[in-house]
Amino acid sequence: MSVVIVVGAQWGDEGKGKVVDLFTERADVVVRYGGGANAGHTLVIEGKKLVTHLVPSGVCHPGKSCVLGDGMVIDPHTLLDEIAECQERGLLVRGELLIGLGAHVILPYHKLVDGLREDHGAKQGKAIGTTRRGIGPAYEMKAARRGIRVRDLLKPARLRELVAANVDDLAPLIAHLGGTVPTKSDVAKWTDEALAAGERLRPHTGEAGRHVSHAITKGRHVLFEGAQGCLLDVDHGTYPYVTSSSTIAAGACQSAGIGPTQIDSVVGITKAYATRVGEGPFPTELHGDAGERLRKAGGEYGATTGRPRRCGWLDLPALRMGVRLSGMQSLALTKLDVLAGLGDVQVCVAYKLDGKELDEPPTDPEDLVRAEPIYTRIAGWDRLPSDARDITDLPAPARAYVETIERMAGVPFCLVSVGPDRAETIRLIDPFS
Ligand code: IMP
Repeated sequence: MSVVIVVGAQWGDEGKGKVVDLFTERADVVVRYGGGANAGHTLVIEGKKLVTHLVPSGVCHPGKSCVLGDGMVIDPHTLLDEIAECQERGLLVRGELLIGLGAHVILPYHKLVDGLREDHGAKQGKAIGTTRRGIGPAYEMKAARRGIRVRDLLKPARLRELVAANVDDLAPLIAHLGGTVPTKSDVAKWTDEALAAGERLRPHTGEAGRHVSHAITKGRHVLFEGAQGCLLDVDHGTYPYVTSSSTIAAGACQSAGIGPTQIDSVVGITKAYATRVGEGPFPTELHGDAGERLRKAGGEYGATTGRPRRCGWLDLPALRMGVRLSGMQSLALTKLDVLAGLGDVQVCVAYKLDGKELDEPPTDPEDLVRAEPIYTRIAGWDRLPSDARDITDLPAPARAYVETIERMAGVPFCLVSVGPDRAETIRLIDPFS
């Protein structure tokens, strides 16, 4: 039996989709454990692209159980669209999907409030740069114990009461933010649509926590798939420029309702450089042409919102923090191929702040903005063979780069990705073994 958590080590978009897809070969159950349709995981299988927002990236392996954990916030309409898209490709047709009855639900008014807050914040230079998918408002209502859960979609009278109470609660805020307060007919329409969606989702719903616990007890291989990355964690990330969920490995236990003693291994995913979407400090960001070159080379545009991602050099102090926060025992390096042909590569090895050298980012966002990255320069490489299957197949400078990261992060690589396709991978350690 092995229970493995895959977690983003940066600000999300590390290429978790590809890694989870690969690890799913060995897994029996794949569990998405946090966030909602703010995530976008791009999978390329035999040249064909599939972007998932809610369904675990393990979906491309028919017959594997795909679970949406109770810690998620789920937009039922987005989920239905995604299920339909998967089924058109012959996936999820054997009843593989299980949606936790305890997961919270995102309805149109959560997205309305998210968008209004962002617009209002932007006027004061205080926007977070959210995905506007209603994630923050849904988690707020959950914490305030006014949330709506998947199980409520299956109970018409209860749902009507809850939606009406939610909209009543939010009406003053919506008005304050300059929005149009929803009418009774909006509320009725949203409720009817949610009930209809609930009926369609009903066959896929169940006790996700128990299902995962039983799988572990029976000795199955279970893979937890994180969304976003450690630096966007609501408690430990670059607050307030974070998402609203626990993105670190601990979030997996919380979402599925299992104890930390059940976890065998934590794998962190890091890109060979850094990206960030939305606002917030990003000390190694490259501006102007240099940033644009990296963005183009890596195709760094949001899979969910299409926004151009901010790009910069790899930040090892931030990576070390991710390793510490999630107890990562190994790392998967993605998009190493993107750096080929871009000249010498820089990597941030420490920060300087008020005359002191720091080996992890300062936790106060104002300090992080002031902190000065200290870089090491590594000779670049012109091309990376996409048929590299062993670390020795890499050109010497790329190997030196990999070894530097490994040494300074303090954990070994279990995998190095040299292209988007499943096959374009150097496999080093099997986390399930
Ligand atoms: P929210 O999760 O939509 O509330 O957005 C909060 C912050 O997290 C924003 O900076 C988003 O750009 C960022 N974010 C949320 N989901 C992702 C993701 O999947 N990848 C990268 N950034 C994300």
